Amino acid sequence: MTMLAPDWPRRAEALCARLVADGKLSSPEWQAAVRAVPRHELVPRCWVPDDRGRWTVMDTSTEDGRDAWLDLVYSNAAVVTMVATNAAGHTTVQSSSSMPSLMTRMLESLDVRDGHRVLEIGTGAGYNAALLCHRLGQGNVYSVDVEPELVDLARDRLAKIGYRPTLVAGDGALGLPDEAPFDRIIATTAVPAVPWPWIEQTRRGGVILADVKIRGQWGSLVRLIRTAPDRAEGSFDPVYGSFMRLRHEPNQAYPETARTPLPDDAPVVERSTTVDPRTPFTRLVVWFLAGLRLQPWIGLGYSGGDPRTAPRSVRLTAEDGSWTEVDLVATFSRHAVREAGPTKIWAEVERADQQWHDWDRPGWERFGLTVTPGQQRVWLDNPDSDQRWPVR
Ligand SMILES: C[S@@+](CC[C@H](N)C(=O)[O-])C[C@H]1O[C@@H](n2cnc3c(N)ncnc32)[C@H](O)[C@@H]1O
Repeated sequence: MTMLAPDWPRRAEALCARLVADGKLSSPEWQAAVRAVPRHELVPRCWVPDDRGRWTVMDTSTEDGRDAWLDLVYSNAAVVTMVATNAAGHTTVQSSSSMPSLMTRMLESLDVRDGHRVLEIGTGAGYNAALLCHRLGQGNVYSVDVEPELVDLARDRLAKIGYRPTLVAGDGALGLPDEAPFDRIIATTAVPAVPWPWIEQTRRGGVILADVKIRGQWGSLVRLIRTAPDRAEGSFDPVYGSFMRLRHEPNQAYPETARTPLPDDAPVVERSTTVDPRTPFTRLVVWFLAGLRLQPWIGLGYSGGDPRTAPRSVRLTAEDGSWTEVDLVATFSRHAVREAGPTKIWAEVERADQQWHDWDRPGWERFGLTVTPGQQRVWLDNPDSDQRWPVR
């Protein structure tokens, strides 16, 4: 494959330059790693959406196809490497090589030093493991993926480019107790709460960097330091980041969320709001604040008009069947709201929006997380602040 891409060093150099120019990579050590790792060797087969939005294997049998594949692989893009279809017939992405800018941003935030031992949760294609091997040496790199097939592929492909980290197939939520303690743990899969084994397996003063998404939905990257035997604490990263959800078993497509529909005659209440209906998509800190109180899964979508190209409303649905529609177009700065069911979803968004303004519009970095064996809580500004929310 390297023979098929003799110009890969130039492409890797260009990717490195792009990440530096975009402010996503600064340290010479990680720049050297990005230049040195032939990403294309790790993602020879990838999936792209066709013109009807269905995932299809990228055709690399022609020269044009191969060029398009190399362009994708050496761009700042996530490359999908595994999909699966769930019982409802929906195809979900099970693994990808994450966006290089997200990886380099996280690796720099991990603040590794020579000789550090690092555990990665979510091996995927192995690109991140390769960057870590380049920086720390293969003897210091450990990585776990729930999919044995991906681990085998990553092991072979990494060996081909000269890296032999310790790769293990299993549920990364358990960490890797036999190899602990680690100086750093980096999770490239989202967790609803930080699994305690990750804290237990990190040295005192060590760092755990993970995407915490309460109920798979509300949160972002958080950087914890193990401050005591029974505690890890730290702030969210200023820049939003997101990964696919952790699953405990291999070969399982992400299931649909079960919803109990409301009876047809459930009363519909009409009112109006000044809060932007796009808030759950665009103002993620406000949505996070709403989620801290809502906590059950809320489905997000559009409705009315042509929901794909020109929808009329944003539609939110709760597991108990409650729903809210908020019109995108405003009349005299007010958006029409229709809602039904016991969960008042939009009222929580309005309350969160108000609090966010009252607190001077905090960014992610003003929020933090404290993890103890029995409890996790989110806080604003400091762990002892009055503004604290348990993660249920
Ligand atoms: C975004 S991909 C990881 C990308 C990877 N770090 C790379 O450099 O290509 C997320 C990975 O997490 C894995 N995963 C999901 N649940 C897991 C679990 N319980 N333990 C370990 N890995 C898991 C998925 O199989 C998937 O490969």
